[in-house]
Amino acid sequence: MSLRFDDRVAIVTGAGGGLGRTYALELARRGCKVVVNDLGGDGHGSSGTSAMADQVVGEIRGFGGEAVANYDSVENGESIVKTAIDKWGRIDIVINNAGILRDVTFVNMKEIDWDLIFKVHVKGAYAVTKAAWPYMRDQKYGRIVVTSSNSAVYGNFGQVNYSAAKHALIGFSNSLAQEGAKYNILSNALLPTAVSRMSKSVMSDAMASMFLPEHVTPLVLYMVHEKFVDTGKLFEAGAQWYGTVHYYGNKGKVLPEATVEDVRNNWNDIAGMDEIRYLESSKDHMVELMENLNEQKAKM
Ligand code: NAI
Repeated sequence: MSLRFDDRVAIVTGAGGGLGRTYALELARRGCKVVVNDLGGDGHGSSGTSAMADQVVGEIRGFGGEAVANYDSVENGESIVKTAIDKWGRIDIVINNAGILRDVTFVNMKEIDWDLIFKVHVKGAYAVTKAAWPYMRDQKYGRIVVTSSNSAVYGNFGQVNYSAAKHALIGFSNSLAQEGAKYNILSNALLPTAVSRMSKSVMSDAMASMFLPEHVTPLVLYMVHEKFVDTGKLFEAGAQWYGTVHYYGNKGKVLPEATVEDVRNNWNDIAGMDEIRYLESSKDHMVELMENLNEQKAKM
């Protein structure tokens, strides 16, 4: 049975181009009503035009879908959510996708490079999700995606600002997942790789033809569907490959009254990954730590 979105209302931020456009089109093809948000600026966070969002709304209406344009910057989350509420009276899905780059080595980074990246990626996701949250809680239903990046997980040269902001979104999503659980609000993070205005300068033509934005779309649509059950997770897509990334810790070692030398002398146990464990939450982490302490103390 095909996965439909009839009677659902979605906001896709930065949907005037790149990945966001493909999400908006496919959601609308599957019956979703879509707020196509895009500031229509350049890739560095300056200027703005309504043309990008209008173009995608035109494409959607062209095949009989329902969409409305919104031209606000994502920090104006209330106004973006108001567009959905005024038009359709509800909001079910928020895909926080809008983004810019201000790549520069750390030594040359200016405060504006840091601030603008945080304003668009972190403050933007906060503002849109915060405005949608009360509606989702009241209706006991919500699907949220934040767009992170491999640069967040692995770091990337020239992207100290971007990696930091993209990692902030993972923490944002993980905590939202816990607060949303009892209201059937799921929140997950996405690590996409696709050719777009943003990434085309770092992709050869051969790579670009493999990494189409359309290959990321099926994963994102599943992540915001009512049948989806995962929350607080990190999913990845690029070039027709789909997967997940998890954080693992090791068993570590209890060292009572440890000195610096004790730490050095036990470095293999502290830093080694022979025995790994996967934990779902900070609470699990604390429980595991206490068990570990008791177990290792009992052996002393
Ligand atoms: P893109 O540049 O084609 O699309 C981003 C869109 O966001 C643009 O249409 C732009 O006008 C819009 N936008 C920028 N600032 C905005 C603001 N303040 N308010 C509203 N809209 C705004 O880039 P792409 O590749 O489609 O990126 C989408 C998301 O995926 C971004 O968050 C990006 O950081 C992330 N990402 C992309 C990767 C890739 O390989 N393309 C890799 C990792 C993450």
